Amino acid sequence: MRAYDLLEKKKRGEALSQEELHFLIDGYVQGEIPDYQMAAFLMAVCLRGMTDQETEAMTQIMRASGAQIDLAGIEGPTVDKHSTGGVGDKTTLVLAPAIAALGGRMMKMSGRGLGYTGGTIDKLESIPGFRTALSTEEAVAQVNRIGVCILGQSEDLAPADKKIYALRDLTATVDSVPLIAASIMSKKLAVGNQGIVLDVTYGSGAFMKTPEAAVQLAQKMIHIGRSAGRKMAAVISSMEIPLGHYVGNLCEIREAIDTLCGRGPEDLTEVCAELGGAMWALCCDKDRETCREEFLGVLQNGQAFEKFQQMVRAQGGDLDAALEQKAGYTREIRAWKSGYVTHMDTEKIGIAVMTLGAGRKRKEDSIDPLAGLFVAHKTGEYIEGGDLLFRMEASSRERFASAEEILCSAVTMGNDPVSTPPLLYKILH
Ligand code: URA
Repeated sequence: MRAYDLLEKKKRGEALSQEELHFLIDGYVQGEIPDYQMAAFLMAVCLRGMTDQETEAMTQIMRASGAQIDLAGIEGPTVDKHSTGGVGDKTTLVLAPAIAALGGRMMKMSGRGLGYTGGTIDKLESIPGFRTALSTEEAVAQVNRIGVCILGQSEDLAPADKKIYALRDLTATVDSVPLIAASIMSKKLAVGNQGIVLDVTYGSGAFMKTPEAAVQLAQKMIHIGRSAGRKMAAVISSMEIPLGHYVGNLCEIREAIDTLCGRGPEDLTEVCAELGGAMWALCCDKDRETCREEFLGVLQNGQAFEKFQQMVRAQGGDLDAALEQKAGYTREIRAWKSGYVTHMDTEKIGIAVMTLGAGRKRKEDSIDPLAGLFVAHKTGEYIEGGDLLFRMEASSRERFASAEEILCSAVTMGNDPVSTPPLLYKILH
C-alpha cells in the first residue's frame, strides 16, 4: 500500500477501506507517514467528506491507539457528557454532582482551557487543594463511594487523535463534520461509560455555525456511539450568548454553586435541566420529562450541592477558603448609550476573559484563578445609557485596558428590538 495512492483515491471522493485508514493513521502515529501526507489526506476529507463507515472506522482506529478506561468496577449506571465548547459553560460542575445525587454514576474526565474556551479542570483547581490528577483506580473507588469524580483527562487517551488534531489546527482542517465526530467519539469511546449525552453548540464562537450543521454533527456522533453499543442522546444549544452571568474560573464555581442550590441564572439552569434530564433518562429508562423534573428536584432540595461538597472534600479541596477569595482589582464597563443589546460576540468575550488572565493563549501559560468577568446584560435586553454592562476582575490592573477594548467591540447596540435565537434548538434521543 502507498500513502500517495490513498490520497489520490480520497481526492477523487472515493471511500477508503478500514485497512487503508489503518495504514494511514497508524503509519502517521508511528512516524512512517509524514505531516504533509496526513495534511493532504485531512484536506481531502474536508473537501470530499467521509462515509459513515469510514468515520466509524477512523473513530475506532484512533480510539484503539491508546488506553481503554474500563469502568466495569463501578456499581450502577455510568454516564458521560461532552460539550463541543462554550463561553461560561459550567454545566459539568452542576451535572456531575446532580446526576450522582439522583443515583447515577459519573466519572468525568475533563480538559483544561485553551484560547477563548475555559476548561472544567482549571475551574475546579481554583479551589485550593482540589486534586484533579487522580489514577483511574482512585477515581473508580471515589465514584463507588460518593457517585462522582471529576478528574483530568488521561494523557494516553486516543494519542492518534491528539497528533492529528494538532495538525488539523495548523492546516485549516478542523471544521469537518466527520473529522470532528471521529475525534470526539474516539476519546468518548475509550472510556467505558454506558451512556453519553452530547451538548453540541452552534453560533459565532462554535465549530458549527448553524443549528442545522450542529444537528448533522450530533447525528453522526450518535450513530457512531450506538454502533459501539452505547446509549446516546444529544442537545443542540446556542452559543450566541455566554451561559450564565460569569466567565472565568472561581467566579464560575460560585455560579455553579448557586445553580446547584436551585438559585442559578435561568439560561444555565435550563441547559443543565435539559442535559441532566437526558443523562438521567439514559441511566434509569424513565421518560425524559420525569427525569428533567427529578433533576430540578435535587437542585431544589440541596442534595446536588451536598454531592458537590462531598466531591470537593474527597478530592482535597477547601471550598470555604475558595469562597473567601476575591480578585485584587475590579473595573466596570457601562453602556455608552441607551438601546437594545443587538449582538454579543461570545468568542470576543472569551478572548477578553483570557486577556484578564483567566485563560491561556498557549498551553504552557499559567492561569489567574481569581480573574473573570460578570456579564450584566445579554442580547435582546433594553438598557439605559450608564447601566452596568460588564465588571472585570483581575489580579493586576494592567490587564484591564486591552480587555476593555475587546469587550467594547464585542457588544453591538441598536434602537430596535431583536429576536434572540432559542437557547435550546433540539433534543435528539
Ligand atoms: N473537539 C475535539 O475533541 N475534536 C474536534 O475535532 C473538535 C472539537
